[in-house]
Amino acid sequence: MLDLLLTNATLPDGRTGLSIAVQNGRIVEVAPHIDATPAQQIVDAAGLLIAPHFVDPHFHMDATLSYGLPRVNASGTLLEGIALWGELKPQLTGDALIERALTYCDWAVGKGLLAIRAHVDTSDPSLLAVDAMLDVQRRVAPYLDLQLVAFPQDGVLRSPGGVENLKRALDKGVDVVGGIPHFERTMSEGAASVKLLCEIAAERGKLVDMHCDESDDPMSRHIETLAFETQRLGLQGRVTGSHCTSMHSMDNYYVSKLLPLIAESGVSVIANPLINITLQGRNDSYPKRRGMTRVPELMAAGVNVAFGHDCVMDPWYSLGSADMLEVAHMGLHVAQMTSQNGMRRCFDAVTTHAAKVMHLEGYGLEVGCDASFMLLQARDPIEAIRLRATRLKVFRRGKLVADTTPAVATLSLTGRPKSTSWMR
Ligand code: FE2
Repeated sequence: MLDLLLTNATLPDGRTGLSIAVQNGRIVEVAPHIDATPAQQIVDAAGLLIAPHFVDPHFHMDATLSYGLPRVNASGTLLEGIALWGELKPQLTGDALIERALTYCDWAVGKGLLAIRAHVDTSDPSLLAVDAMLDVQRRVAPYLDLQLVAFPQDGVLRSPGGVENLKRALDKGVDVVGGIPHFERTMSEGAASVKLLCEIAAERGKLVDMHCDESDDPMSRHIETLAFETQRLGLQGRVTGSHCTSMHSMDNYYVSKLLPLIAESGVSVIANPLINITLQGRNDSYPKRRGMTRVPELMAAGVNVAFGHDCVMDPWYSLGSADMLEVAHMGLHVAQMTSQNGMRRCFDAVTTHAAKVMHLEGYGLEVGCDASFMLLQARDPIEAIRLRATRLKVFRRGKLVADTTPAVATLSLTGRPKSTSWMR
């Protein structure tokens, strides 16, 4: 007997009227008609969209939900955010870090966000945040994939003991090597940090994901070094450059040479639209740069580009709600990806492209994939982004982990038929 049968589903690729059969947590059949009788649970999708769950490839779980602690970021800049985080760090406790992270993971599950890559600060020699996030990773494992990046927020070379602390975090089981080359003292120190961190990853068989060139400075070119080191060390397909905002301001000729290098090296790029549009261009008067990296151009060059949430209610960003459709919505606007294909690629950036960054196994809607998907109150990915559609049901390996009442407004006085109440 099947564990679960979904009927009359529309898939992100546009196929409609499909049934999805689930057994032992995996998809065993996708077809127009599957015999409904032997199934423990049958869900009629009523023609609505079934999509694989959302994936956030770039987040800061150790800082989330700390907004206002110990004070609010007055200037709204990245650098004041880093300073503020430094003020907060001595006051952190393991219990508070864990409680905030678990609360955020609850929000995430309700929004169909079942995989998160989180950068955890390794600068503090006590590794308090690392231990707390490893604990959270274990606790949420039954319902959410939490992948951790060893992130030397204060600079791996710039801060005393930076390299040793990062290696100790990896020894404890942190999955990915991080970095922040643009925050090192000089350009050459930044490049040296990229080389060193890639070598550590190659030695240990780890993935790499660096905050790379989160700056409006067109001369911040650490993504070039990252792509070069990726090729030199044979790390193709295992490395990601996060933010890469300086690319927005780079010389066009230089970028025409850079994009093929990134594509050849198989380096993925993550833009964080909500944060980039908020933090970049802060030193500009007018015109003010948007500052987000060159998303459509990177995609056109064959680079895997994903969108991350980055921050929710922390020293850098006072808003956010674990909603990757909000992220896709902002990314679409900032990158002006308003064509039909462009809007669909923005949905991919928070689903399939992000899953590729994280090397998630069993992700997707094909036979053999994990039955970890969601039923959205929308008919296609574009409508999902437009409406930031309600996630009606969220399944993880065939089990219902969240459901939400449909968003329907009850109207009065308009005299219009009720069919208009679905907020279309
Ligand atoms: Fe970040």
